[in-house]
Amino acid sequence: MTNLLPYNTFGISALASQFVEVNSVLQLQNLIQEKAILEEPFLILGGGSNILFIKNYEGLVLKNNLKGIEVSRENENYVWLKAAGGEVWHELVMFCVNKNWGGIENLSLIPGTVGAAPMQNIGAYGVEIKDTFEELEAINIQTGELEKFNNEQCKFGYRESIFKHEAKGRYFITSVTFKLNKKPDLNTSYGDIETLLKEWHIAKPTIADVSKAVIAIRQSKLPDPVLLGNAGSFFKNPVIEFSVFEKLQKNNPTLKSFPAADGKVKIPAAWLIEQAGWKGKRFENIGVHEKQALVLVNYGGGTGKELIDLAYKIIDSVKAKFGVALTPEVNII
Ligand code: EPU
Repeated sequence: MTNLLPYNTFGISALASQFVEVNSVLQLQNLIQEKAILEEPFLILGGGSNILFIKNYEGLVLKNNLKGIEVSRENENYVWLKAAGGEVWHELVMFCVNKNWGGIENLSLIPGTVGAAPMQNIGAYGVEIKDTFEELEAINIQTGELEKFNNEQCKFGYRESIFKHEAKGRYFITSVTFKLNKKPDLNTSYGDIETLLKEWHIAKPTIADVSKAVIAIRQSKLPDPVLLGNAGSFFKNPVIEFSVFEKLQKNNPTLKSFPAADGKVKIPAAWLIEQAGWKGKRFENIGVHEKQALVLVNYGGGTGKELIDLAYKIIDSVKAKFGVALTPEVNII
C-alpha cells in the first residue's frame, strides 16, 4: 500500500494497492510483457495536478518519471523540442523561455507534467498546447509497442483530446515534441497580460516578459498547491448556444462571453459560481478559493468525498440559478 497524498496536488490521502515509478520505456515494456499491467486496474499518474481521489485506489498506479529534453531538429525559424513525459511542465517552459524559443510562454507555471499536458490540451491566457504540439510518442499498454500521434490524431479541443475518449487508459505518453518559434510571435491579447505589461512600462515585450506577466497573474489569483491543496480550475467553462447566452445576458449584463466552435459561446464558470454565492466559502477543511471561484481548495485534512459533495452542490445551485450545467475538468477517481 502506498499513500498517494504526496502525488496529488489536492493533498488528498488515498491508498493505492500497488505503486510503481516508471523510469524508462524498457521498464514499462517489461511490466507489460510480464503481464503486471492489465491483470488489475491501473492508473497513469503525472504530476497529480488534475485529479481528485474520492476513495482508495484498488489497483496499480504507474507514476510517469521519464526524464530528458532534446532538440530533435531545427532550421532558421523553428526548433522541434522533444521532452519526456515525466518532465515537469513549468521547467520545460522555463527552458524554452531561457533559450528565447516562443510558443509556450503563456503556459508558464501550469502545474503538472509534459506527458499529462496533451491529455487535456492544457491552456491559459489565449494559448493551448495544441498550438505548438507537433507529435507525441506513447506506449500502447495492450501491446507494449511505441505509437506516434500527430496533432490531428490527438483530436484536441477545449480541455479535450482523444486520450480522454476513445484512447482513454490505453496509452502511456512517453514524450511530446513541440514546434517552437525562434522568431517569436507573442500573444499578449489576453486582457490581464496587456494590462500588466503596460503597468510595467514594457512596450516591446520579450518572451521572458510575457512569462513573468503570466506568472505574476497566476500567483495573484491561483493558490500555490504547495501551500494550499488544489487542482486548478475544478470545472470547465461551459460552452452554450448563442441563443441561451443572449437570454442569460439580458438578466445579467455583466456576464462575459468568448467565442467557441460552431457559433457557440464559452462563458466563465467562475462568474456563475461567484454569482451563486460560493466564492470564498469555507466548509471546515475544504472550500471555494477566495480569489478564483473556479478553484476548490483543501485547507488540509479534507477528503475527496467532501470535495466532490461540494462540487455537486455547486453544480446543482448553478443549474437552479442559471439553467447552465457545469462539468468537472478534474479527473475524479
Ligand atoms: N471571474 C469571476 N469570478 C472569479 C474569477 C473570475 O467572475 O472568481 C470572471 C472574470 O471576471 C473573468 C472570467 O471570469 O471575466 C475569466 O476569469 P479568468 O481569466 O481568471 O479565467 P477562467 O476562465 O476562470 C481559464 C482556465 C484557467 C486559465 C485561465 C486563464 C478553464 C477551466 N480555466 O480560467 O486554467 O488559467 O482561463 O487563461 O478553462 C486550469 O485549467 O486549471 C486553469 C487554471
